[in-house]
Amino acid sequence: MDALYKVVAELLVKLGSCVALTGAGISAESGIPTFRSQGGLWDKYDPMVYASAEVFRQDPSKYWLIRGEFIRNYGSYQPNPGHYALAALEKMGILEHVITQNIDGLHKKAGSQRVTEIHGSLREIYCQSCGKEYLAPHVPEGDPPFCECGGVLKPNTVLFGEQLPREALETAYQESSSCRTMLVIGTSAVVQPAASLPSLAKQNGAIVIEVNPEKAFATADHYIAEKAGKALSRIVEEVKIG
Ligand code: OAD
Repeated sequence: MDALYKVVAELLVKLGSCVALTGAGISAESGIPTFRSQGGLWDKYDPMVYASAEVFRQDPSKYWLIRGEFIRNYGSYQPNPGHYALAALEKMGILEHVITQNIDGLHKKAGSQRVTEIHGSLREIYCQSCGKEYLAPHVPEGDPPFCECGGVLKPNTVLFGEQLPREALETAYQESSSCRTMLVIGTSAVVQPAASLPSLAKQNGAIVIEVNPEKAFATADHYIAEKAGKALSRIVEEVKIG
């Protein structure tokens, strides 16, 4: 494992132009459950009901049931060493961009500047009637909460059956096809289009490095079987040693 960290750090320094694709696994060490692990969110709630755009239109209380608590405790979740390590790699001039599927805002909270949240953010909440914006954790009581105009409030996140925000998607494709190294961290790589970004990077000549206790991306060039906090901190240390 020691040798692997050295190899990866050398690649990052030599090739630079690194993009990170992150999923729920990087926030697991911040106490936020992942989706598909045992005891994960989709183990308890069927995503096609609780995170479906069509169901939201008929009964928004279902989505608020699974997201209301997070939104009301928004300020209490903190980044972990994995998030901070990516922010440090950006400051060192190695990491160009973070593409995240996470809606928890922790990359930005850790200090990463160039972040694309392709599934949106739980921080921003909009009234479906008048468009007024609310910022988590400041939302009215109730699941669902209602705007002062009486409209239903919806977090600015992508539900199943909705398109990804176009600009974010274009950035994700552009960054993935132009990077020279890609770190794929804590994602089961099953939800499209995020799941296809590592392949896009590879097709364009990038070296793909996966960090995940359970291998998810079959054709990674290097695989670090470790939790994100430990692995990414270690990579930063190796880069510093040079
Ligand atoms: P998943 O729950 O599908 O996968 C989480 C991954 O993180 C798994 O591969 C775990 O092995 C790994 N993991 C767990 N703990 C880890 C740790 N400490 N360090 C590193 N890896 C760890 O989550 P995502 O792949 O993010 O979309 O799910 C993708 C999308 O599916 C989500 O954005 C969400 C969900 O449905 C929408 O809701 C639109």
